[in-house]
Amino acid sequence: MSYSYQVKSLEEYNAAYKKSVEDPEGFWSAIAENFLWRKKWDKVLNWNFTEPSIKWFEGGKLNITENCLDRHLATKADQPAIVWEPNDPKDNKVVLTYKELHFKVCQFAHVLKNNGVKKGDRVCIYMPMVPELAIAVLACARIGAIHSVVFGGFSAQSIADRIQDAQCSTVITADGGFRGSKVIPLKAVIDDALISSPSVKKVIVLSRTHIPVSMINGRDVWWSEEINKVQNADCPAEIMDSEDMLFILYTSGSTGKPKGVVHTCGGYMVYTNYTFVNVFQYQPGDIYFCTADIGWITGHSYIVYGPLSAGATTLMFEGIPTWPDAGRFWEIVDKYKVNILYTAPTAIRSLMGFGLDFVNGKNLSSLRVLGTVGEPINEEAWHWYDDNIGKKKCPIVDTWWQTETAGVLISNIAGITPQKPAHATLPLPGIQPILVDEKGDEVKGNGVSGNLCIKFPWPSIIRTTYGDHERCRQNYFATYKNLYFTGDGALRDEQGNYRITGRVDDVLNVSGHRIGTAEVENAINMHTGVVESAVVGYPHDIKGQGIYAFVIFNGNMDDKELLKHGIVQTVAKVIGAIAKPDKIQFVSGLPKTRSGKIMRRILRKIAEGETSNLGDTTTLLDPAVVEEIKNGRI
Ligand code: WT7
Repeated sequence: MSYSYQVKSLEEYNAAYKKSVEDPEGFWSAIAENFLWRKKWDKVLNWNFTEPSIKWFEGGKLNITENCLDRHLATKADQPAIVWEPNDPKDNKVVLTYKELHFKVCQFAHVLKNNGVKKGDRVCIYMPMVPELAIAVLACARIGAIHSVVFGGFSAQSIADRIQDAQCSTVITADGGFRGSKVIPLKAVIDDALISSPSVKKVIVLSRTHIPVSMINGRDVWWSEEINKVQNADCPAEIMDSEDMLFILYTSGSTGKPKGVVHTCGGYMVYTNYTFVNVFQYQPGDIYFCTADIGWITGHSYIVYGPLSAGATTLMFEGIPTWPDAGRFWEIVDKYKVNILYTAPTAIRSLMGFGLDFVNGKNLSSLRVLGTVGEPINEEAWHWYDDNIGKKKCPIVDTWWQTETAGVLISNIAGITPQKPAHATLPLPGIQPILVDEKGDEVKGNGVSGNLCIKFPWPSIIRTTYGDHERCRQNYFATYKNLYFTGDGALRDEQGNYRITGRVDDVLNVSGHRIGTAEVENAINMHTGVVESAVVGYPHDIKGQGIYAFVIFNGNMDDKELLKHGIVQTVAKVIGAIAKPDKIQFVSGLPKTRSGKIMRRILRKIAEGETSNLGDTTTLLDPAVVEEIKNGRI
């Protein structure tokens, strides 16, 4: 049985999967033939998970923007590449054809060069969801600069940490951004971040909201003025090695500050394209709408690079799902006749809560495929999505992956492989999952559970954590020998379908945003008077997980509510609004072992509302503290 690039039947999936395991190099080299390489690779794959050292398509030369833009000009010059829906539905949309996007990317690439950006330099991008964000990302890639996009919801401190870690020379931002009824002062936040970031020499500022901003002479320049200086927009692409860095994207782990996940040019391009085309069963001419922000990996891989490398029309939305009302997504689907919709369970659960009035009356008949990503989807939300949005006619792909994997690893393939509510189902071709127990022994057979690992590299696997390779090894490759450890737990049902049950480490998933408990604790501890804190997740109807903080405070506690607000503000300042605790409980002590380790298991149970069966508490230094915490539960 043979199979095509885009698998078209269950048999083809099975054949592709079999080939990908038996002959991974043969499989991926045939896939990689479908791209524009300036020079073909010498070796398909070179790897070990011990260092780790992973190289795909070594010796290959390419530029990903030639694959996303130039190669489509012959046949798709006038087809929309990006369709942009502004925050305010009364404002005008923007449509950029492939020809126009190519022109704008090349033009802005010149702006970067004119401002001193060179191949290998790191560029921080902190922008709202406007077409210029995609243009900035692609312009970096055009000249071989490494982009580090920071989500617009992060604080000045978080940006500063990221800028300093990557030693960025340049920042691209906007005066502000519109989000629903709010205006977010992005440039002002950047100004604060730059007080402690001397590596930054230039800031390029897009005018979006026309709010007043301070422009520092010699450092800050306006996007539009710089564009006007470009005489000739011709910009040949920098020819990159397959393993040259394409971007850094920071993400939270169970310890310390966020780490810069590094992805490289060749493998990333191949894998995001392959998975985009297959998982969603993309058809030429489709209008594809992913509701994520480009500040997260979903936006990198499945708003920008995957769809554009496939010559698709990708819809970018500036606003939020609930403004002007909770029908906004469905209105957009209706307005643009969206064929493929990719969103997050948290959005579905939130919109469910507003009722069907916002869905009824919208024409959703253009939809052919639905997708979800970011967290486990509960069955209720899955069925609501299936019944009311897909009208039971659209397959739903439940795509499991991570910042570190850069592309979908486990998912059904729309309409091709069987779907099962709340299950990511089967691995994609090239992906070899394995479940292990605590000791690292393989959990064989079906109807089992364990920690989810992957035993063989795929083209877009994380290469390193920027500036700290040892951290990458420790985090992902040291827990279990010769395995990539995902940090997730999973069940495998009788048919071999995977169901991801959530993180088994100290990482929270709040509204699909990944947040480390240690990060939140560090932020809380910065508040004056806080002696110590412990943060755990608890089930939250809409967010998936909420943040529950236990805080020991030494000082005036006359106005506890005011104090709580103060702590919440501190977290917002240090990390960003996305990490604000939902609940704060003041305690006189934390349950610790004799060696001083906080027993989070107990706190997690209390936060979840389970107060009777707390397990063994005899190893605690002070068992009485548990009673107090139980009684004070919020
Ligand atoms: C973590 C990765 C993948 C891009 C967005 C999030 C959880 C992701 C699913 C899913 C169950 C999921 C996992 C994973 N997750 N997709 N379909 N079902 N859980 O990327 O911020 O790197 O977070 O999100 O726990 O480890 P991320």
